[in-house]
Amino acid sequence: MTDLTGRTALVTGGASGIGAACARELASRGATVTIADVDDVAAKELASELHGETWAVDLLDVASLEELHLDTDILVNNAGIQTVASIVEFDPAAFRRIQTLMVEAPFLLIRAALPGMYSRGFGRIVNVSSVHGLRASEYKVAYVTAKHALEGLSKVTALEGGPHGVTSNCVNPGYVRTPLVEKQIADQAAAHGIAEDQVLEKVMLTESAVKRLVEPAEVGSLVGWLASADAGMVTGASYTMDGGWSAR
Ligand SMILES: NC(=O)c1ccc[n+]([C@@H]2O[C@H](COP(=O)([O-])OP(=O)(O)OC[C@H]3O[C@@H](n4cnc5c(N)ncnc54)[C@H](O)[C@@H]3O)[C@@H](O)[C@H]2O)c1
Repeated sequence: MTDLTGRTALVTGGASGIGAACARELASRGATVTIADVDDVAAKELASELHGETWAVDLLDVASLEELHLDTDILVNNAGIQTVASIVEFDPAAFRRIQTLMVEAPFLLIRAALPGMYSRGFGRIVNVSSVHGLRASEYKVAYVTAKHALEGLSKVTALEGGPHGVTSNCVNPGYVRTPLVEKQIADQAAAHGIAEDQVLEKVMLTESAVKRLVEPAEVGSLVGWLASADAGMVTGASYTMDGGWSAR
């Protein structure tokens, strides 16, 4: 028995990177985890390891989420994508796609999950934001916009959910060692006009006091704690894990 035994959890984008680490942590604390991901093959692989379930879903299809009812005690809004380009060159369709996946889908999932949480008098919503929910960087206009919006969504959820035993918080990592960051290195090199092997030192870790990438399991551990009974008085908060970046 561990602290989340008997709880159910849903992790979006749970098939890879930070989401997979969150799914592992929540399962290790005893929760029954559903991995919601567009990559159903990877989701099924992890779910079978964790004795969990999968929900094959493209969260860009937001119309299908409008009538949804979600029965889950813990909701981790994690699925995300990135596009690196200057505002002038930014593809408007890519801008819209990022707001849809990273703002509108979390809103609809929270909206679908709250009635069940309210009726059970317990709920934990964890929104995987970023240091870019609190700070800006060049060439990431859609991502920074979406993460700042997610911060607002999380705080309103905290205010409305508080009287019903529901907490809502953001976690705000700096750069984490995941496929999303690996895919970004070439684009960052092009946008900044530098070599790929200079991206970590000259772009990603410039503001951090601790000069290394965050590990996905470190983020998972924080998410596990936020989902626990111990964190019942933590709501409307944004927990940085950025090696000191936002201390500046
Ligand atoms: N990696 C970082 O440095 C970092 C830092 C701070 C915050 N974050 C945030 O963490 C979250 C996860 O990022 P990651 O680095 O683990 O990424 P990742 O690319 O490793 O994983 C993202 C997951 O989301 C899924 N996904 C993508 N589009 C989807 C869709 N339309 N519907 C359903 N699932 C979809 C993917 O299949 C994948 O499994 C994102 O919200 C990201 O913004 C990442």
